[in-house]
Amino acid sequence: MTNMTFNFNEKAVIVTGGAQGIGFEITRQYLAAGAKVSIWDYSEQALNTAKAELSQYSAQLHVAKVDVGNRESCAQAAASLPWPVDVLINNAGITRDKSFVKMTGEDWDAVISTNLTGLFNVTKALLEKFNPNSTHKRIVNISSVVGLYGNFGQTNYAAAKSGVIGMTKTWAKELGRKGWTVNAIAPGFIMTAMTKAMPKEVLDQMSAKVPVQRLGETSDIANACLYLSSEQASYVNGTVLSVDGGIVL
Ligand SMILES: NC(=O)c1ccc[n+]([C@@H]2O[C@H](COP(=O)([O-])OP(=O)(O)OC[C@H]3O[C@@H](n4cnc5c(N)ncnc54)[C@H](O)[C@@H]3O)[C@@H](O)[C@H]2O)c1
Repeated sequence: MTNMTFNFNEKAVIVTGGAQGIGFEITRQYLAAGAKVSIWDYSEQALNTAKAELSQYSAQLHVAKVDVGNRESCAQAAASLPWPVDVLINNAGITRDKSFVKMTGEDWDAVISTNLTGLFNVTKALLEKFNPNSTHKRIVNISSVVGLYGNFGQTNYAAAKSGVIGMTKTWAKELGRKGWTVNAIAPGFIMTAMTKAMPKEVLDQMSAKVPVQRLGETSDIANACLYLSSEQASYVNGTVLSVDGGIVL
């Protein structure tokens, strides 16, 4: 998959959940486009692996062990940031899937804490850390197609991802006048290490349901992040960009 070319020299980006999966590819693309990137992730092991895999960019890369669901952890990481921020990608997320009948209060709390409250915690901690002179202040929140349409077995996840959309539109209104744009991306089914391990027949059946006849790649989401946070997207604010191959049409 080819990457769009955007120039992020002199820009600083934070990617939550950037140590693995979609967030890792987002991180890689910003580094390749010249940005300094700080990964906030709670998995120390994944952070170490990511650092090793991105060693060619070591001068541009900073990693921090942060639990986005923990307000104090976010505040501490924000206080020790090595540079002012231009772009924030709120990507960290988890699933605890069960039908509503079987879903426990703990399943609900865990997903809401990371996937919804986590965005509040991170963005709140970082708002004052944005570069006040930046003409390029951008927040991109990773929602999901499930936040728009719901999904069997995902009461907690769908509620959180719908909440992300409401939060995005509210911030677009409130922060737009203060120099930010705030947008969301609603990915469809994206291939990550975990999904790549699924049986080929299952993946083929899923691809067949997508109008473009393939599942999404992590680079599809990274491309959308770079676009929405670019100079070129300065008039795009409060939108939800579906990146799903048209699966819900
Ligand atoms: N993969 C898909 O098909 C898909 C589809 C739609 C939306 N999404 C969304 O994209 C985002 C990334 O998903 P992914 O598939 O790459 O997941 P992943 O599990 O591969 O990666 C998630 C990363 O977030 C980190 N993380 C989780 N909880 C955290 C916390 N409390 N604090 C800090 N870091 C935390 C993990 O350590 C991991 O590195 C999520 O928000 C997910 O909901 C994914």
